[in-house]
Amino acid sequence: SRITLRQLLDHAAENDYGIPAFNISNMEQGLAVMAAADKTNAPVIIQASRGARSYAGDIVLKHLIDGLVAMYPHIPVCMHLDHGNSLPTCATAVQYGFTSVMMDGSLKEDGKTPADYAYNMGVTRSVVQMAHACGVSVEGELGVLGSLETGMGDQEDGHGATEKLSHDQLLTDPAEAEQFVRDTGVDALAVAMGTSHGAYKFTRKPDGEVLAMDVIEAIHKRIPNTHLVMHGSSSVPEDLQEIINTFGGEIKPTWGVPVEEIQRGIKHGVRKINIDTDNRMAATAAIRKVFAEHPEEFDPRKYMGPARAEMEKICIARYEAFGTAGHA
Ligand code: G3H
Ligand code: 13P
Ligand code: NA
Ligand code: ZN
Repeated sequence: SRITLRQLLDHAAENDYGIPAFNISNMEQGLAVMAAADKTNAPVIIQASRGARSYAGDIVLKHLIDGLVAMYPHIPVCMHLDHGNSLPTCATAVQYGFTSVMMDGSLKEDGKTPADYAYNMGVTRSVVQMAHACGVSVEGELGVLGSLETGMGDQEDGHGATEKLSHDQLLTDPAEAEQFVRDTGVDALAVAMGTSHGAYKFTRKPDGEVLAMDVIEAIHKRIPNTHLVMHGSSSVPEDLQEIINTFGGEIKPTWGVPVEEIQRGIKHGVRKINIDTDNRMAATAAIRKVFAEHPEEFDPRKYMGPARAEMEKICIARYEAFGTAGHA
């Protein structure tokens, strides 16, 4: 059944676990997430970006979610808008049955330019007023995601700033986070602490701590009732990179966020962990393999099926690693 983000994350906080939030834009991704949740008895956060909404279409997306919820009535499902950029975008998500919305006011409406505090606070507060009146949860974001290594926003995937950012911009300030939550009333807060979107997060194999764990800890101490959200949390598995490249792909050498590092984050208040890239890579690896090994096949089920199975494996692994399993 449907549930809000607030209800899900309150339970996660009380029981010390985290919940992966998987992006979807099609049926195979949705079915993979739900099958994994069913097998591990895990509560679900499915999220759709603005791009996903326009790709599938709001009406199809709404009915897809209705179908997934009806198919697994024993699994709590939060349907969340990922990176909403304005009040109207968040309001239409509510109309289509989303139980949670993200207002990402850390960037201006163009999704590129870092915004100042007043803009972020104002637009996020207006979304909280609208959403809470409708019984819908809100995630805000403070700080700009990008690589601490290079100082670049996550421009690789077309997200984020293209100018070099300062270390300060790339790490959320704990005192400002406390102020932001007081000013806006958000249920969850995405913070910048070393992750970035897309496949190209780290150019070297992470050696020890890659996230600013001290920043996470300090923020959690100041706003213990606001659930922390970690964007850019794909681990970019090396085996998937290898399969993709073996079968004609060209992924440059890259490293993601180690699962153990996310587990440490969960110990310090991280409750929602956003994952899109890992499932994209799982699907691509499976499809490339089928195309290379069975060039005679042309039935989409013959490659979308394996794609779905590989995504399901990723989801099961995350539900188990983050402690979500068993909490549906
Ligand atoms: O944060 C970004 C998510 O991975 C969604 O990406 O905007 O390409 O759908 P998208
Ligand atoms: P990844 O690109 O690491 O999967 O992050 C997805 C994300 O943060 C969606 O909001
Ligand atoms: Na941001
Ligand atoms: Zn994100």
